[in-house]
Amino acid sequence: VLAAAPDRVPDADWLASWHADIYDRLAGEYGARADGLAEVTALSVRRLLSLAPARGDALDVGAGAGLVARALVDAGYRTTAIDVAPRMAQMCRERVPDAAVVVGDYIGHRFARRFDAIVAFAFIHLFPAELAIRALRKMHADLSHDGLLLIGTTAEPRCSEGFESKLDYPGFPQRYRRRWTEISFLAALDHAGFAVRDLARHEDPYGKRWTDVVAAKAPTSCR
Ligand SMILES: C[S@@+](CC[C@H](N)C(=O)[O-])C[C@H]1O[C@@H](n2cnc3c(N)ncnc32)[C@H](O)[C@@H]1O
Repeated sequence: VLAAAPDRVPDADWLASWHADIYDRLAGEYGARADGLAEVTALSVRRLLSLAPARGDALDVGAGAGLVARALVDAGYRTTAIDVAPRMAQMCRERVPDAAVVVGDYIGHRFARRFDAIVAFAFIHLFPAELAIRALRKMHADLSHDGLLLIGTTAEPRCSEGFESKLDYPGFPQRYRRRWTEISFLAALDHAGFAVRDLARHEDPYGKRWTDVVAAKAPTSCR
């Protein structure tokens, strides 16, 4: 039985252990839906690949069932994936045995290397705005100087945030959800030091509308 979600904005450590618990419970359902989402995920990752100058080391942040990590390995990247939920990380390991899979909180984790590509799908909207900016700044720090970030979130008509029940999943578990408008999402990327290289919108098989952005480190003179 889950504890009640607090009525205050959570801090990074508290939220990481809350989401580890929630996403462990959701892992079975994510696994069941993964095959239906594999194509649309691979298509988005291809957008990054078409802009990336060369292959190298890639990081999948909030890897879930491992769809992004699979696409990155298939494209020839040495791939690391991180997820805070042990059951999600295990699914990723099974789908992508050739990726290095870390169980942990991305915001608190230190990597020994920088990455040529970082992908964060359906991740940034799990945090209050302040923590989301912290996560984006960490992605900026984890990226090599000419690396690319591919990041996707749902596009919403207005901004809001707080604990929300995930109504399309069994048990309606409550996870933190920030709803970004496209403009506020782009402003957050700018704030964290990124320059947008490409933007695409798509709808997934479940009717959710997404904005995917490929971004590079902005020249220092722009910041
Ligand atoms: C909505 S799922 C998206 C999975 C995958 N990126 C995809 O698009 O299919 C979000 C994932 O982020 C993970 N997650 C949540 N908070 C995290 C954190 N602080 N550090 C690492 N992973 C986290 C969850 O466990 C979950 O697997």
